[in-house]
Amino acid sequence: MLLPAQIIQRKRDGHALTEEEIRFFITGFTDGSLPDYQMAALAMAICFRGMNFDETLWLTRAMVESGEVVPWPTGPYRADKHSTGGIGDKVSLILAPLVAACGVEVPMISGRGLGPTGGTLDKLESIPGFRTNLSLRELMCVTGSVGCCITGATPEIAPADKKLYALRDVTATVSCLPLIVASIMSKKLAENIDGLVLDVKWGSGAFMRTRESSAELARAMVEVGKRYGKKVCALQTDMNQPLGQCIGNALEVRECLEILEGSVAALAKRGHSDLLDVTFALAAEMLILAGAAKSVAAAREILQKKLARGEARAKFEAMVAAQGGEPAASLPVAKHQRAIPAAATGYVHAIECNQLGYAVIALGGGRRVASDAIDFAVGFELPKKIGDAVQRGEPLMIMHYNDTARATEAERMVRQAYTIAPEPARDRQPLIVAKFD
Ligand code: URA
Repeated sequence: MLLPAQIIQRKRDGHALTEEEIRFFITGFTDGSLPDYQMAALAMAICFRGMNFDETLWLTRAMVESGEVVPWPTGPYRADKHSTGGIGDKVSLILAPLVAACGVEVPMISGRGLGPTGGTLDKLESIPGFRTNLSLRELMCVTGSVGCCITGATPEIAPADKKLYALRDVTATVSCLPLIVASIMSKKLAENIDGLVLDVKWGSGAFMRTRESSAELARAMVEVGKRYGKKVCALQTDMNQPLGQCIGNALEVRECLEILEGSVAALAKRGHSDLLDVTFALAAEMLILAGAAKSVAAAREILQKKLARGEARAKFEAMVAAQGGEPAASLPVAKHQRAIPAAATGYVHAIECNQLGYAVIALGGGRRVASDAIDFAVGFELPKKIGDAVQRGEPLMIMHYNDTARATEAERMVRQAYTIAPEPARDRQPLIVAKFD
């Protein structure tokens, strides 16, 4: 007979757990026979002692098997992309319809904002009526009819993760490699897709602040996916500055619509290149996994054509309609806009990117507590990026807001997030650092 306290003790003392012990814990936690405090204690012991690869794999497996695996009919290749999260990371909104336009089905299960990072579901909910709580049957129907779908985990998908994630969020056990691997991979494996591309971010706006720790996370997730017989690869990408030109829910959706519009002039004017580069790089890997392209160059050509011909935009609109959303013109707009002036003349050397995410929360665009309602209209536009020259008084970015007191606090946070120095910045990071497969 296994006693939960003995298992906690074994991990506390640095021993590797067996598959049976891990399964016992996850099954009991999911069905409620094992209380939250024992799961929280085990999670904290894992944070301190870590897990070897086999334990991480068993934990992932137990979490996948806590629920159902999507019973797809035989059909086209299905692939998904998962990002570990960042500031202004709206890639999914462009990538899912774009890849679907290339004939690869994308049944994407996404999450909400977590800490300072924005969540794809929150962004999509800024479209009035858009439903992110599809049932398993609806997820399968929308994917089958449109080619893509973006929704939250259904109650059947990895219920252990849903419960454990909520517990980790309030017990300081989010930032722990084996727990992150099992959490992300259990949801993706339960989707029962053929191929998965991971965007593992590093930097001041990512969970993993260093390149080394994010590379370790990427390797572990790829390995778990492969042990499941899936085709998986990961790109390690830079998150030391916001991705794209907008931060905040409705603003980010509008930015994606502009890109999906495919107007080269609009794209050049706004300077969308980092967002498009990451989107194309990840989407290209999905096409390669699916066998729809032989090389990154060939995949990019296909993707560019689909975007320019409006096929990705048509898929996006079909997905919005299938998930109950109204046309894009109905996105909310904030009452006020004002520029946040730079405090000094010089060059942007660094951006404390998480701080920008917290500034969106300060404006009301994210949650301080789980029950908070989101003001979808607020956020920031046209941020200065690392290496940009700025004059004192010139806008660091444009703030969209509805509440003056909140705006004052958010402005202070934005100014603090920027490091401006007189000499040009030299250490610019590559946007796409490495590939793991
Ligand atoms: N995203 C998840 O789904 N789980 C984690 O643990 C971290 C990021």
